[in-house]
Amino acid sequence: MCGIIGILGSHEVSPQLVEALKRLEYRGYDSAGVATVDASGRLDRRRAVGKLVNLSDRLVHDPLPGHSGIGHTRWATHGAATEANAHPHRFGRVAVVHNGIIENFRDLRAELESLGIQPQSQTDTETVALWTGYHLDQGMTPLEAARATLARLEGAFALAFLFEGEPDLLIAARKGSPLAVGHGTGEMFLGSDAVALAPFTDRITYLEDGDHAVLTRAGVQIWDAAGRQTHRATARIDVGATAIDRGGYRHFMAKEIAEQPAVIGNVLNHYLKGDRIVLPEGLDFAAIDRIVLVGCGTAHLAGHVAKYWFEQLAGLPCDIDVASEFRYREPPLSDRSLFVAISQSGETADTLAALHYARDKVARSVGLVNVGTSAIARDADLALPTLAGIEVSVASSKAFTCQLAVLAVLALEAARARCRIDDAALAAHLRDLRAVPALIAQALALSDECRVQADWLAQARDVLYLGRGALYPVALEGALKLKELSYIHAEGYASGELKHGPIALIDGDVPVVVLAPHDALFDKTISNMQEVMARHGRVLLISDAAGIAAAGDGVTASLALPQGGGIFQPMLYAVPMQYLAYHTAVAKGTDVDQPRNLAKSVTVE
Ligand code: M6R
Repeated sequence: MCGIIGILGSHEVSPQLVEALKRLEYRGYDSAGVATVDASGRLDRRRAVGKLVNLSDRLVHDPLPGHSGIGHTRWATHGAATEANAHPHRFGRVAVVHNGIIENFRDLRAELESLGIQPQSQTDTETVALWTGYHLDQGMTPLEAARATLARLEGAFALAFLFEGEPDLLIAARKGSPLAVGHGTGEMFLGSDAVALAPFTDRITYLEDGDHAVLTRAGVQIWDAAGRQTHRATARIDVGATAIDRGGYRHFMAKEIAEQPAVIGNVLNHYLKGDRIVLPEGLDFAAIDRIVLVGCGTAHLAGHVAKYWFEQLAGLPCDIDVASEFRYREPPLSDRSLFVAISQSGETADTLAALHYARDKVARSVGLVNVGTSAIARDADLALPTLAGIEVSVASSKAFTCQLAVLAVLALEAARARCRIDDAALAAHLRDLRAVPALIAQALALSDECRVQADWLAQARDVLYLGRGALYPVALEGALKLKELSYIHAEGYASGELKHGPIALIDGDVPVVVLAPHDALFDKTISNMQEVMARHGRVLLISDAAGIAAAGDGVTASLALPQGGGIFQPMLYAVPMQYLAYHTAVAKGTDVDQPRNLAKSVTVE
C-alpha cells in the first residue's frame, strides 16, 4: 500500500509534499520521506520513521529546498519500519518512491550484487533505484534508464522517479497500483489518488495499467503497455468532496459513526424515489441465476449480511467470499451470474484482482464503491456509489452501513424483478428500510452506555461475539472492529456453532457480546446465551426492549436498541459494534484513527 506524490511546482515544494502526504497517510504510516531537486539541480532527501509529523519536524530543523520533488508514506511490506527502509530510495542520480511489490526483487538484487552494487535497505523498492542509477551511469538518459528498469520489473507498482540535474522532470509508471496525474497552470502533479492532489488541482488524468509517463511543467506524455504513445482523458474532480476535517469530534471515527443517519439517508434518497427503486440501466435480476459478492474485511462482511437478504427476499443463490481467496481458487462463473465487488476505497488490490478475474466471465460486473474515481469504479461494467462521503478513520463505520443500504436496495430490486414479492410487500420492506436512518439516530444515543461497557471490555484478554442469521456477520464485524481498534483478541461466532467447539473458551473472564433482536430467531439465540451463562460466561446482551425483557435475568449488562427496521436491522446493530470498539480503544489509549500495523487502503496482496 503506501502513498506516493510528485510535484513539479513553482514554490518551495517540501510543504506541499507533506500536505499531500497527509491526505495519503491512510495508505500507511510506518515511515515517510521526501526528495527534492533544487534550482542548481541538486537531489537530496529527508526520511523519518513513524507518522508524518516526524518527517515534518525533521524538515523544520533540516529544510529541503527545491521546487520539484517526490514524497512517500509507507506501509511496510519488505523490511521493518526503519529509516534505511523508508522511501525515497536513492542511488546516484535518481530517487524513487513506490507503491506495490516488486516480486522478482531478489533476482534483481542478486544481479546487482554481482555487478558490485550493494543495497542499503531490505526493501524491494531499492532495486528499482539501484537499477535505474546503474543504467544512468551506463550513459542512458533518464527516460531510457527508467524504461530499461521497468522492463525488468515483475509484480505491482506505481512508481515516481526524480533525477539529479533535472528540475523539470518526473517519470511515472503504473502496473496494478493506481496513479493519477494532476494538471496545474505551469505545474504538474502525480499522486496515488485524486484526493492527494485536491489542494493543487481538480484536473486529473488516470494512468492505465502498463502506462508510463513523462511529466514536465509543460504537460504530460504517456505511453501504453505496448510502448505506443497514447492519450488518456482528463476529468474534473469534485474537490469539495475531498475536504477532510474532524468537525469538532475527538476522532474521525466518532464523527463518521455520528454521520450515519445523514449519509444513509442520502443513499436511500439516491436509490429510492417514492416506492420506486432507481438503479442505472443494465441490472437485470430476472436474467441472472446467481449473485457473487466479493470484498475484504468489513466490505466482505457487508456482503455476508446481504447474502441473507438476496437469498431470503429474492430467492437468488448468493456466493460470498473474501477477495484474496476468490481470486486464486478459480471459481466457475457463468454468463448468468452477477458479480459485485464491494470496496470502500475501490483500490483494494485483492478485490480489484477478483473483479478482473470475474468481469469477462459473468453477465455483468458491478463495483459497489465509496470512492467514485477509484480503479474498481472504473474497471467494473457498472459503478454503484455508496455515498458515505470521505471516510478517514482506518476502521470502517459509515462506509459499512452505506454498503449495507445499497445492498438492501439491490436485494429488494432483485426480489421485485424476480417476482418474489408483490407491491404491498415491497412497500412494507421499503418502509422498514427508510426507517433505518432515524433508528440509527436513536441508536447513537447508546454511545455513553457503550463507554461504560467499554471499561469492562478494555480489561479483557479475549471477547466473543455471537449472532444468528444476518446478525452473525454483524457479530464478525463487531469482533473485527474490536481487534483492529483496541488490539484485544476477539472472535465472532454463529450462536448455534458455539457448542461445536468455541464454548470451551467460556469462563468468567471472557465477555460474550450477544446480538439478539426480538425476532423469529430470538429464542434460539437466547438458548445459546443461556449455555454461555451456565458456564459462568458474562454476557453483554444487545437487543431491543422486548428482547431484553424476554431474555430474563442473568446477563451482566444489556444495551437496548430501538425496535424496527425489519430485516434491515443489521444496519442498526452495527452501531453498538462500532461504539464498543471505539470506546474500548479510547479507554485503552490506542490510536483510534490510525491503529498500529494497518492502512485504510490495502493496495498490495
Ligand atoms: O477499501 P475496502 O473496503 O476495499 O477495504 C477493505 C478492508 O481493508 C477494510 O474494510 C478493513 O477491513 C477495515 N479497516 C475494517 O474496519
